[in-house]
Amino acid sequence: MEVYAGLAGIPVVKSSISYIDGEKGILEYRGIPIEELAANSNFLETSYLLVFGNLPSVEEYNRFVKDIKYNLSLDEGIIRFLKDLPKNTHPMKVLQSIIPILSSFDENRDVLNEKHHYSSLVTLLGKVPTILASWKRIREGKKPVNPDPELDYAENFLYMLTEKKPDKEVAEIFDKCLILHAEHTINASTFTAIVVVSTLADFYSAVSSAVGSLSGRLHGGANERVFHMLNELKNNENIHDYVEEKLRKKERIMGFGHRVYKTYDPRAKIIKELLNKVTKIKGKTALIHIAEELEKIVLEKLRKKKIYPNIDFYSGILYHLLGIPIDFYTPVFAMARISGWVAHCKEYIKENKLFRPTQIYDGGHNIKYLPLEKRK
Ligand code: COA
Repeated sequence: MEVYAGLAGIPVVKSSISYIDGEKGILEYRGIPIEELAANSNFLETSYLLVFGNLPSVEEYNRFVKDIKYNLSLDEGIIRFLKDLPKNTHPMKVLQSIIPILSSFDENRDVLNEKHHYSSLVTLLGKVPTILASWKRIREGKKPVNPDPELDYAENFLYMLTEKKPDKEVAEIFDKCLILHAEHTINASTFTAIVVVSTLADFYSAVSSAVGSLSGRLHGGANERVFHMLNELKNNENIHDYVEEKLRKKERIMGFGHRVYKTYDPRAKIIKELLNKVTKIKGKTALIHIAEELEKIVLEKLRKKKIYPNIDFYSGILYHLLGIPIDFYTPVFAMARISGWVAHCKEYIKENKLFRPTQIYDGGHNIKYLPLEKRK
């Protein structure tokens, strides 16, 4: 028997939700190229596509949006819970702890009942942005901004976060970022979600566990670190030396490399274009110049190892221009990934098999117990 470290390259499911060709830089959701969706769809429509397998009809779409809007508000108990948290709690920890509690407001959460999946989905899509935006306000000692159901999904989130109605075009760009983050085959967090749901725990438990998995710096946590790195480089005259030093110490440069893409991440290309659009509206930041310079140098050095920028490389700068705080970059990713996680849970549970891998034991046997006082 052999151990497949990190399960790299080992299929654990059959799935029709998304497809990646890492050599060619292709990403499709339900067979539709990510470029098509980013150009023509919106986040809620794409979420419907991911979870239900087809683009919604007008009626399906309208009902879906209405049901999500119905779920935007938070119960007073959740607001009180947020107010009682230590102010330095990272928003990913806030999400991870509150998402399971949302199940208390949803009587239809039986994983084995397909109709209930819809209820979990609209509850999560409705409430998670409000939780995040409310947390930002509460930790600043301010009153949460009530959601405005008249606004579009992304527009409402930016409004609740900043208390200002965003420019329509800016909100649309942010909505496209949500599309790019919505799904990405079986990665660490999605695997976490299906492992949890395979025990017949509800979607709330699966999604909150997936949030924990996403928070690690090798997964969703990279975008925050990229931003810190770029800020650090603002005071560093020589980006070239920074890269050399990192590589000499065998350290990773955040925002580069991917387990699957061995070429430019197609989402990174789109996000770079979106960033250009945002700068036309919001103005340039010095960080873009630093990022471009860093990209050039890293590509010179690491292209031979097939290391290219990933989605996290430019997303932080874009979010910064939209007024999103640094520690909210990964939570925004989580907010978008809810659709992908729910889609996989829904697909997996259809032919559920409890995950129970095995191990190769390499410890001792039959060892005598040594009383505490005799241990050195
Ligand atoms: N910076 C510098 N070198 C990198 C690198 C990076 N970001 N990513 C990979 N490499 C190098 C490795 O050191 C290794 O070199 P070696 O063969 O000389 O030992 C080679 O490229 C292959 O790396 P490997 O660890 O096999 O790749 P992986 O598929 O396991 O790693 C990541 C994928 C994402 C974990 C890795 O690229 C990484 O840590 N990136 C930075 C974090 C990040 O941006 N994560 C977000 C992902 S969307």
